[in-house]
Amino acid sequence: MIKSKNLKFLSEKEGQIQFFKELKISDDIELTNNNDGIYKGTIFEFKLTISDINKVLFQALKYLSHLRVRGIPVPRQILLVALNEQIAYLFDSSEFLKYVEEIYAGSASKNNNDFSTKIKPEKIDYSSIRGLSRIIQILDTVEYTKVHIDVFDVVGWSEHFYRENPKASKSKLFEELRQPKQFKKYIYPWKGKDLDFKYINDLLNAKIIKKELGAFYTPQLYCLKAAQLVRKAIREIPKGNDYIILDRSAGTGNLEEFLTDKNVNDISIGELDKYVEDEIKIKYLRDKATIINTFYGDKNFNDITVGELEKHKTKVSMHDFLFDNELSHTIVNTYELKEWIVLYERLGDKVRHIIPPEIDPRDQLVNGGDALSEIFVMGSETKNSAKLKKEYFEIIDEVNNYIKDQSTNIILYENPPYRDSNSSHYNENIKQNKNDSFVKKKMQIDKLGDEARDISNQFIWSAWKYYLKKKDDSYILFSPIKYWKSLGLSNKKFIDGYLFNRGHFHASPSAISCILWKNSEENLEELILKVFDISQEKRENFSSSKLVKLDDIVIKKANSTLDIFSDNRKFESDIHTKCWSNSNGLEKVGKCEGKPVFNSNILGWLRVKGYSCDPMNTQLLRQMIYINRGFYLRSDNFIEKLPLFAAKLYPQKNWYEKDVYFTTADGGNRYIKDKTFLKQCFIFTCLSQKNHCRSFDGSDGKFYKNELCFDKKTISSEKLNDYRLTKEEQDLLDSFNDILKIAKTTYNYNKKYAYGTYQIDEELNTRHKSENDEWIYEYPQLNTAINGLKTKLSKYYEKNIQPKLFEYMLLK
Ligand SMILES: C[S@@+](CC[C@H](N)C(=O)[O-])C[C@H]1O[C@@H](n2cnc3c(N)ncnc32)[C@H](O)[C@@H]1O
Repeated sequence: MIKSKNLKFLSEKEGQIQFFKELKISDDIELTNNNDGIYKGTIFEFKLTISDINKVLFQALKYLSHLRVRGIPVPRQILLVALNEQIAYLFDSSEFLKYVEEIYAGSASKNNNDFSTKIKPEKIDYSSIRGLSRIIQILDTVEYTKVHIDVFDVVGWSEHFYRENPKASKSKLFEELRQPKQFKKYIYPWKGKDLDFKYINDLLNAKIIKKELGAFYTPQLYCLKAAQLVRKAIREIPKGNDYIILDRSAGTGNLEEFLTDKNVNDISIGELDKYVEDEIKIKYLRDKATIINTFYGDKNFNDITVGELEKHKTKVSMHDFLFDNELSHTIVNTYELKEWIVLYERLGDKVRHIIPPEIDPRDQLVNGGDALSEIFVMGSETKNSAKLKKEYFEIIDEVNNYIKDQSTNIILYENPPYRDSNSSHYNENIKQNKNDSFVKKKMQIDKLGDEARDISNQFIWSAWKYYLKKKDDSYILFSPIKYWKSLGLSNKKFIDGYLFNRGHFHASPSAISCILWKNSEENLEELILKVFDISQEKRENFSSSKLVKLDDIVIKKANSTLDIFSDNRKFESDIHTKCWSNSNGLEKVGKCEGKPVFNSNILGWLRVKGYSCDPMNTQLLRQMIYINRGFYLRSDNFIEKLPLFAAKLYPQKNWYEKDVYFTTADGGNRYIKDKTFLKQCFIFTCLSQKNHCRSFDGSDGKFYKNELCFDKKTISSEKLNDYRLTKEEQDLLDSFNDILKIAKTTYNYNKKYAYGTYQIDEELNTRHKSENDEWIYEYPQLNTAINGLKTKLSKYYEKNIQPKLFEYMLLK
């Protein structure tokens, strides 16, 4: 290396490799694109030439800031190396602690011009023996700059601590932070109070570290799959155009996990798993097998780079699957403090921007992070500047300029928040702004008031309205398919899509679509989605998850609900009364709505609301429900209306049917002509336990007899005589008669009542809990018979009714 002043490295990488080779430390150092390398107590920043020392120094300080946030010891020595000049500049990072403890969002190599310092470095000319030996001396020094613990780096240091002490408790962690032993050389004793971290406290638990927090959201395998759609979108961008990937609800950044953070040529074989699925990696390595053996046989296999392999053209190129530094095109936003902290730690120095660029750790929600607010959408155009600094508006304005710029395409990549009453999704607990959002108000003006109630719809609507304006812009969207199927919030060109199991998102199992839409209008009637579940494979102590491909699913548009089949006739013979029903079939006392009536032609009350097959929207009762939604079933219409009840009871046994099939009136009255189908739905309803009609004495002095069961002399048992029954149906009735026989022997049996399965189970099949919390039945035979009927009935439904529900589009 000595006296070769006319050295001309063409790339920093080439120079770095040579530099470390000469110093014989090439095996120990990690060279990455984001960070030029750390060796013992030194961080390097390599440049071919250094014309502005301050600029390069500031870049190094930003790297050190990110090391601190990740809980990685901060090297004391900063060595800036001008490779072609063979000059190095040595700084002491402890003199720049203030800058190391700053927060910098966005790539480290940007906005470095504003920094200046009076501190002079030691200048080393390593083309001379003296200089070179000074470098060797520097490299042997292992010293660190101590940093302070604060809300930004405490998560990183706690992860570091638990990694080295996996069994330690949180109090041990705090002990270490207050009186560092293990971290003695790296951190100052923390003098704060536990309350300093009150909003991020659970991030400091041994178990809930970054990854687990992330697991509340999109699981890795689905993120990897979705990243393929992002790349498909990048591929669709017109030649010469640039692109931006925007995620307004990035949370902890799971979706971004597999996007590239370096140029494709710099990725080594060992790193491919970080970006592509196994399938692609295997295909690529098979294709390149001969090249590897011929040219790189003596190299460590995992260290061979894509760039080296790509020098030799074969059928498959990694450039067909990955794009250069995709994260540097990415802008992420988050709304919650905890998420921001993790997101910053994870992606802070890799993405183009994090919104908001800075936060106040005393607030649970981060100011400026509400993607549905006016400042977020309009930036500096808004009158309300909400105490945010100019940097915030600069970023939002930058985004808005990309949106206007015809040579930049926008790719939205999002899993917007959604409500799931069954989930443990902790974001439900954060206090969202009680006022209507800017986006919600705009939707209301657009006459989308109903849709605007749902926050995920606000995200979807605003995506098309404000962000995706050019024809080659795209949206990779995770959401239950309702937004397309029945709400028409995305009548766009479908490129490709998946159906994933929400059970793996720490929610209840159901289907969530992940679709790549392109911004051109297209009113499709159906979509075909590829279905993927995740299975856990356990081998001895080791468990790994794997994607499982199931059959594709066709999802059809739903145009109208069952509401149009409602029968709201009033009869002159109707007697006004004051008896309402609860959803459990008993009389409701207390506050009720509507005007119930009594009439001998009334059999019950049916409520089949909305599109979804969920029990909350389905009631079949003897009398009007206390919320007055639904309509009366009368002796002249009930046979035609019971298929609606049957449709709502579609069991959705598999997760990939939930939130996918809706009850609709799209097939019109066609189903009424199928008399066999009407009979089947009638028999099914009268035997079903989901039919909550009961016989009871109303407080209005009237006797309400359950007419929708096959007990003695009901309208339904009379009606049954009109039909010829199949063997299977006769068997079902025999089973019910067996139940009735046992029911008559029970203590609570009331001779006056006509009983259906539900009332028998609720009132006669008496039970209590044992000490072991198990149900003990007083009439085990009765219980067995009820269960037997249930099983037979569900088979009957599946075989006879279900296919016809789809045929007549009562299910779609
Ligand atoms: C379903 S999670 C998805 C998180 C992450 N993108 C993932 O897929 O794992 C939705 C995220 O939206 C965030 N969020 C909720 N309301 C928001 C709002 N008004 N603006 C921005 N983000 C919001 C939540 O905090 C949560 O992180």
